[in-house]
Formats: sequence, C-alpha cells, structure tokens
Amino acid sequence: MTAILAIETSCDETAAAVVVDGRNIASSVVSSQVDLHAAFGGVVPEVAGRAHIDLLTPVVGEALSRAGIARGDLDAVAATIGPGLIGSLLVGVSAAKAYSLAWGLPFVGVNHMEGHLHAAFLEDPDMALPAVVLLVSGGHTMIVHMSDEGRYRLVGQTIDDAAGEAFDKVARFLGLGYPGGPVIDKLSATGNPAAVAFPRGLRGQGFDFSFSGLKTSVINYVRKNPDTDVKDVAASFQAAVVDVLVEKVRAAAGQLEAKSICIGGGVAANSALRAAVAEAAESDGRACFLPSRAMCTDNAAMVGATAWYRLRTDGPTPLDVAANPNLKLRFEV
Ligand code: KG4
Ligand code: ZN
Repeated sequence: MTAILAIETSCDETAAAVVVDGRNIASSVVSSQVDLHAAFGGVVPEVAGRAHIDLLTPVVGEALSRAGIARGDLDAVAATIGPGLIGSLLVGVSAAKAYSLAWGLPFVGVNHMEGHLHAAFLEDPDMALPAVVLLVSGGHTMIVHMSDEGRYRLVGQTIDDAAGEAFDKVARFLGLGYPGGPVIDKLSATGNPAAVAFPRGLRGQGFDFSFSGLKTSVINYVRKNPDTDVKDVAASFQAAVVDVLVEKVRAAAGQLEAKSICIGGGVAANSALRAAVAEAAESDGRACFLPSRAMCTDNAAMVGATAWYRLRTDGPTPLDVAANPNLKLRFEV
C-alpha cells in the first residue's frame, strides 16, 4: 500500500488529499478562494498566493485527519509544480518540500494538466484505452489522445482564449460575476440556445480551437441589441462553445479510433457539454466517461493519482526542481 499526501495550489483552490495506490481517495479537501476573488472579477495572483499561505496548513491537517492517517504512515508527498500562477504554485511546492524533508519522505512534482488527465482513472480505473480526452479549463483547451497511462499525444488546442476564459470574459461583460462558467451554465438552462447565431470558431478546420472571435461577437451583439434577454445570450454563447468542443472531440475520436471519450478540467462541469458529449459518444458506439463535477474542477486527489504513477515510473523528483508557471506536458511525437 502506498499512501501519498498531495497538494494542489496552482490557481485559486487550496487543496490537499490522501490517495492510496493511485486509485483510492482516502480524503480530498478543497478550500475555494472564489469569494475572495469575486470582488475583483477574476483571480488576483497576489491575493491567491497570500490566501494559500493562510489556508494550506489547515487544509493539509484536515486531509490527514479525514483520511485517518498518521504522517508516519505516508509514503510520499506530492505537489503541483506547474503550470499555474507562480506565487500560488510556490506555496504548495515549498510546503510539500518542507514536509518531505521534515518527515523523511520522497517528494513528487506533478504537472497540473497530467493531473486532470488522471482524474478519470480515479473514478473509472477500467476506462477503455485508447481514449480521446477533451481538457477544458480556465487556462487550457486541448484534445489529448491517451494510448496508456502516461502516454499522451496532443491532437489539438486553442490558438487564443481557453474555453473557460471565454465563459469568464463573457460573464464579466454581461455583469454576471466570477467565475462565469457556473453562472452561464445555470442561466442557459432557461434561455434559448438558438436565439442568436454566434460564430463557431474554426468549425470543420482540424482539431484546433478559437474562442476570441466568439467573445467579440457576443460583445458586439449585446451592444447593438441591449434589450435581448441575457438568458438567451448566455444560452446562445454556451451553445456555440459546446458545439465546437463536441464536434472536434467526436471527430478526433473517430479519426484516431479511440475506444472512449473523456472530458476534464473546470468547463467539463458544464451541463450542456456533458449531455452533448454523452449523446455523441453513444450514437457513435463509444464509451464515454464524464468524471464527477468535483473531479473535473481543481482538486488534489488527481495530483495524488498522478504522483503514484510518476513515482513508479520516474522515481522521486529532486528537491531542487523549481515551480514552473509554463510547465508543458510531455507529449509523444
Ligand atoms: O480546471 P479549473 O477548475 O481551473 C483551471 O483553470 O485550471 O477550471 C476553471 C474554469 C473557469 O473558467 C470556470 O468558469 C469554468 O472552469 N467552469 C465552467 C463551469 N464550472 C467551472 N465553465 C462552464 N460551465 C460550468 N458549469
Ligand atoms: Zn485545472
């Protein structure tokens, strides 16, 4: 049995978890700073870093006590080392290195995006591979082909804004607050997705995405038509994002003959996206895996799952590794 204490502080969630053998979540604690940042309409890096300092020790204490595990029973300490906000990453990485030294445990540095890719394994260890994974968060939008755990190929990615960024920017313009995704998701449930025909960026043109034109088009439309019901604007915008995400992940799965389709990242919590991906997979006869909402958004359990895999394949990470805000995922060519 290998018990790993994992820490995630790449953005605005302070999270810690204890994961056993890479698959069993003994505890997963997430303390969201969303209320702190809402007043500013987005994550303020300096505020996030300071909040992580205040929250991390109690969050780690809570994760250990909920898991009912003494620190003497841990086998490793892991932390997200990138990509993310440097001031936020540094808090988790420094704390994990300190625990590792103080408790005499190996340290494992984890790539946040590889964490999102592993989230699915935590809930469905038997996910059929190869899988095509749509990773959609506030910072990233990509389609990844996963032939096995740790073996990834980049199929497509956004050439400008990330999907979550588009949700957040449009919500901000519409005066809906931060974060924008959950509000637009909720409002759209009662809006008409066909009310406004917003553009579908790069439709039918390979597997890359573009969302900045859509954002501009929503802004221009609302300026010209200020009386349109905000629910209809939200639903029409959401439909434009979901259409291209689903169309491309579906085409990628077909072309690469994937056995399953999976989604991850904060935007994967979106109800319309979940429904559309499930429907597309079903009609194509592919397995579909939709991690729970808690496992789609940032958490430390996914970091613990990845750390278990990395510890077995690469061994411990040297303590002189630096937090890297631009850390890239290692893709096969
Ligand atoms: O993965 P995540 O928790 O953090 C990173 O960016 O790494 O993703 C956060 C993003 C935000 O842009 C947020 O607006 C979006 O995920 N999001 C959603 C929903 N819930 C969160 N977007 C659309 N619909 C949702 N229900
Ligand atoms: Zn994330």
